[in-house]
Amino acid sequence: MKIRLSTGKLLPIEMYKIKIVQETSLPPVAQRQQTITDAGFNTFLLRTRDIFLDMLTDSGTNAMSDRQLSAMMVADDAYAGSESFYRLADAVRDVLGFQFVMPVHQGRAAEHLLAKTFVKPGDLVLMNYHFTTSKAHIDLAGGKVLELFGDGALQTQSDNPFKGNMDLARLAAAIEQNGRERIAYIRMEATTNLIGGQPFSMENLREVHALASNFNIPLVLDGSLISENAYFIQQREAEFAGHSVSEIILEMMSHVDIFYMSGRKSAAARGGLIATNRQELHNRILPWLPVYEGFATYGGMSTKEIEAMAVGLREMTAQSVASSSADFIAYFVNRLVEEGVPVVTPAGGLACHLDARRFIPQVPQQQYPAGALAAAIFLTSGVRGMERGTLSTDRDADGNDVMAEMELVRLAFPRRVYTMSHIEYTVDRLKWLFAHRDLIGGLRFVDEPPVLRFFFGRLEATSPWPQALAEAFRADFGEDC
Ligand SMILES: Cc1ncc(COP(=O)(O)O)c(C=O)c1O
Repeated sequence: MKIRLSTGKLLPIEMYKIKIVQETSLPPVAQRQQTITDAGFNTFLLRTRDIFLDMLTDSGTNAMSDRQLSAMMVADDAYAGSESFYRLADAVRDVLGFQFVMPVHQGRAAEHLLAKTFVKPGDLVLMNYHFTTSKAHIDLAGGKVLELFGDGALQTQSDNPFKGNMDLARLAAAIEQNGRERIAYIRMEATTNLIGGQPFSMENLREVHALASNFNIPLVLDGSLISENAYFIQQREAEFAGHSVSEIILEMMSHVDIFYMSGRKSAAARGGLIATNRQELHNRILPWLPVYEGFATYGGMSTKEIEAMAVGLREMTAQSVASSSADFIAYFVNRLVEEGVPVVTPAGGLACHLDARRFIPQVPQQQYPAGALAAAIFLTSGVRGMERGTLSTDRDADGNDVMAEMELVRLAFPRRVYTMSHIEYTVDRLKWLFAHRDLIGGLRFVDEPPVLRFFFGRLEATSPWPQALAEAFRADFGEDC
């Protein structure tokens, strides 16, 4: 939520009180240099105790509400027929409008089941943009992803409110050129993660749905950040200005054949789900649920988390909840723009995204600029971000690096976890780093896994730049900062 100050300025404001906290500490710069080196310059391999502010992801890290925690206490641990499942099914019906729901242990499990059920070797899945795990499951099933984003979607400096829109002309052409039979489904991602959490509009969703229905192609919506996309529709699409987040979500769902989500984001619980009103689609997926996840009434989730997800689904429709991260991210992004630090605009749904190409143009893509920038940010601030660029893209079949279309470092802003002073601290350190950007160099692999290499890959600096950066930092801030 934003509140208007007497000066007229709009300030994002916390619509909650903090009741339980986790302590954090800021290790000195020498220790940060050591830990990022030991972690192979991969922020995934850092430990919590070495991190000051953890902005790796909003997945499973949003603060839960008192109502979610209390709901966990009434969880029913039956293997089959758990009452917790029926409370989830009620929430899915009320909030999303779907009759059939299958819990899964997290979002990628839903992606696995969908790929397993609908993708045959040689098939295509058409998307507004891919996400790492969704693409991996389609590739593993022998399919291929075609991304049909619009002009300007990849421009990092923009005022396009809906960079997540699918290009309808490209969609129509892809169906015509490849034939309906080759297309397993169309997937729309609510706030496209890898291009900066950018939303799609309702108008675009309606049009994609109309085209998909004409050809009888199922439209699948990845709604991991559904409430944030709905909030952006309310704020940015004139037709929806006076509508509630609930109304917008229900209309979105009316255009969708299959909905799935990682419950770890908008719903603030560790789980996921697949939902639909089409019984025949549900019946095709259901047999695989106990094979890969668990029985239909728990799907690999703890029943405590099922209860929390049921409450989280209802809570995400509150204006104060749907807007929480988005408003602070917008503040974060605007502060960096004021300081001249290159970020993705307009602000998106899950994080503030730095544009590594504009930040450190001297580092070639072959040396993973976004990975190097994520390491440099950790070294100078203790803030952990995530590389979203070439490192997050696996090699092609011939073993060549596939250069990503964007080189981003994402500083996620988990909902209701960090405060304004955390943002101001991070802005200050990023401003310092940008002024010293010439000191940052590249990275190269020393140990590279064959799939989703960004999770476990280890790298080293291509020159002693981390040392030079740490020395410059010490000269300005002293040993202990
Ligand atoms: C858009 C999107 N889809 C799917 C997933 C995968 O979900 P999970 O991490 O719960 O497996 C994520 C995770 O970040 C995501 O952002």
